[in-house]
Amino acid sequence: MHEFDEEISRRDTGSLKWDRRKDLDPLWVADMDFASPTEVIFALQDRVKHGVFGYAVPHQGLINTLQSYLKERMKVEVPEEQLVHLGGLVPALSLAARAFGEPGDAVMTCAPIYPPFLGIHKDALMESISVDHIQTGGLIKTWTFDWDKMEASVTPKTKIFVLSNPQNPLGRVFTAGEITQLAEFCEKHDLILLSDEIHCDLILDESSTPHFSALNLPEPLRKRTITLLAPSKTYNIAGLGYAFAVIPDDTLRRKFNAVKGHTLPEINCLAYYAAEAAYRHGEEWRQDLLSYLNKNRDLLTKTIRTRLPKAQVPHIEATYLAWIDCRELGLESPMKAAEEAGLFLSDGAFFGHPGCLRINYGTQTARLSAALEKFVVAMGGEEK
Ligand SMILES: Cc1ncc(COP(=O)(O)O)c(C=O)c1O
Repeated sequence: MHEFDEEISRRDTGSLKWDRRKDLDPLWVADMDFASPTEVIFALQDRVKHGVFGYAVPHQGLINTLQSYLKERMKVEVPEEQLVHLGGLVPALSLAARAFGEPGDAVMTCAPIYPPFLGIHKDALMESISVDHIQTGGLIKTWTFDWDKMEASVTPKTKIFVLSNPQNPLGRVFTAGEITQLAEFCEKHDLILLSDEIHCDLILDESSTPHFSALNLPEPLRKRTITLLAPSKTYNIAGLGYAFAVIPDDTLRRKFNAVKGHTLPEINCLAYYAAEAAYRHGEEWRQDLLSYLNKNRDLLTKTIRTRLPKAQVPHIEATYLAWIDCRELGLESPMKAAEEAGLFLSDGAFFGHPGCLRINYGTQTARLSAALEKFVVAMGGEEK
């Protein structure tokens, strides 16, 4: 069993999460407070030891590893030419907007959503159409798509639908039925389905909520998809900058690659080697991480549901991010209240839903527990 309880000080390490507001306890941006798998650290050390850091290319070991990953994880055979290597996933979202839209066209998504999804249209002088997710079910509700509203909102100028699956910040793992229906919606309205699956290896109970990738769609639907993947969230190597796209259709891939132009820097050699090591050797570590995150998720949901019954926490199926709807708590600004209690959380306003907060529970349980105590009191709950 790997060790996740050890607190590793990240202050003054140039960490965005820890060094932006040194006066606050950070549970915001999506990276975890855990060291990466030792195999990743060793791969980086080995490459550093070589001492020469000229321009890099994706080496054959990485390509083979990505293909094996796609085969094992998604059950798909992907020829090398369908892979597009990227220095980050967000630039790929922006590239897609510029590749498939003209000024005046629209990018569609559903909110609440990872903030760049609500901003990439600007890079292509496009419009943004955002339809809110809706909740169905009984006491603990499930977030899903509002198909009727989506039909009513899509326009002939809409060119792209941007999907986060698993969903950040709601923690939903969409079913095969939902993804197929979404792809059919895209086909009906001639949209490119841009499927960001960066969180797909962070599904907390894969037996009850398996990942259904856009790559698993039947052929006619798959042709209009761009699937974006990365080892960065799962193995905590976001700062190294590596992601990749799978673009099965030649024409789409050519267009996507063409707009890169001279806008992207070369990917660094360390990122390639870390990505290879993570996918190749990280599985045991990942399973232990998921057990740890499951416990943190349970602690968080139980604490908030019992002590802040008016706040809503969805059933979190994936990610280490918890979406808390604080709108019924009667606070003028939940974000400000959290800050006054010394916590740095993510403000729902950036995700399209003011009055909600996102808590990153990818941290040591003891630290999470202490932060939750502060959170409950800040949101008007009783002290323990
Ligand atoms: C859905 C989603 N896509 C993309 C990213 C960031 O990707 P990258 O760091 O490769 O740009 C994140 C980070 O939180 C995310 O949640």
